Amino acid sequence: MQVIKTNILTPLSVNNIILKKNVFVTISRGLISNISNKHSSAYLDCSDLVCIPGLIDAHVHLSQLYARGKHSTNLLSWLNNHIFSEELKSADESFAKQIARDFFNELLAAGTTTAVVYISPFKTACDLAFEVAESIGNRVIMGKTMMDRGEPGFLRENSDRSYQESVELFKKWNQATSRMEYIFSPRFALSCSPRLMRRTGEFASANDAYIQTHLSENPEEILQVRRLYPQAKNYTHVYEKHKLLTPKTLLGHAIHVNDDELTMIKNSGAGIVHCPDSNFFLKSGRFPLSEIKQKGIRYGLGSDVGAGTSLSMLHVMKMSNYIQNEIIVTPAEAFYNATLGNAELLQKNETLGSIETGKEADLTFLKIKTSSNHTKEGILSALLYLGEDIKVKKVYISGQLVFKPR
Ligand code: GUN
Ligand code: ZN
Repeated sequence: MQVIKTNILTPLSVNNIILKKNVFVTISRGLISNISNKHSSAYLDCSDLVCIPGLIDAHVHLSQLYARGKHSTNLLSWLNNHIFSEELKSADESFAKQIARDFFNELLAAGTTTAVVYISPFKTACDLAFEVAESIGNRVIMGKTMMDRGEPGFLRENSDRSYQESVELFKKWNQATSRMEYIFSPRFALSCSPRLMRRTGEFASANDAYIQTHLSENPEEILQVRRLYPQAKNYTHVYEKHKLLTPKTLLGHAIHVNDDELTMIKNSGAGIVHCPDSNFFLKSGRFPLSEIKQKGIRYGLGSDVGAGTSLSMLHVMKMSNYIQNEIIVTPAEAFYNATLGNAELLQKNETLGSIETGKEADLTFLKIKTSSNHTKEGILSALLYLGEDIKVKKVYISGQLVFKPR
């Protein structure tokens, strides 16, 4: 058992964020077992810090960590000019191990305790990523990118092998520890055959497994999907036809989607991951936030590194505010989205996303400048707009200290 004296800022629901100053958080067997105003025996004093729920990144590419900030004019030329060749580097085991170490340490340094991750299309790189995550302590939902069609030839997988390896990885790693799950990761419609998508969707549904893919990010991408699937009503329909839309599917981006597509997504129960920094970087367009809210579709936030330039979910929160013109994303809403909202997107809000008794002790401790106004509104506003000035001082996952700056 450990007790920490601190100031907690946590959502309890989308409309209810609370700040409790100078409280004692008790952690037993990895869970938050008590939050009280008084405590008589020994405790760790973090009363100069603000404790928030560990941040959650719902869409990030491990193998693109070193390829951030590589200029291009749109999605497809960026993939072709910078990303596919970068992902090929992870075929080398020592490279794959090193990038995984850097990735998981940098996630923690950014205050992120849970991440939903695409690994390069190499089985060994995926095994190594799970091993490294386990040794460092990150909570992860990860899968090997699947791609059996289209360019580039040097990354293209044999279709049966892509499927078999993903199933093997699922069997080996899904819930292998309490901190890890597998997610089937067909890259997008342009790099997956109809058969691979269908088999993957059917297996994932039968096994209650997560699926992630990219949807309608860029106009040229959508045009190419239309050419490949002339009978499909739209891009979303391609995924629906091939069984990829399930209640455990996470659709990255979903920018250029019409009302029919949103209805299809809503009816399937799938969720959407909004990646605003990436959308700015690749000039992909503006996320249709009000339409998605109106439909009642579950959505969350992702960094989408390497099209996203930063692993910081505070930065992603800021971009989610900046990218909207007509509607205002409030500090409270952005904070909710990166914590409890993302936990709901992952259907993990019973255990993650807020600081409440009975939940996992996934906690991020922040030093916020003393010049900031330390009211609830002041802290929320600083989290949204001043992430660069905020230092991550400690990170716990299931009550285990996993990060402390040197
Ligand atoms: N669409 C297909 N692959 C990718 C990728 O790696 N990043 C982004 N942003 N979009 C994609
Ligand atoms: Zn992505």
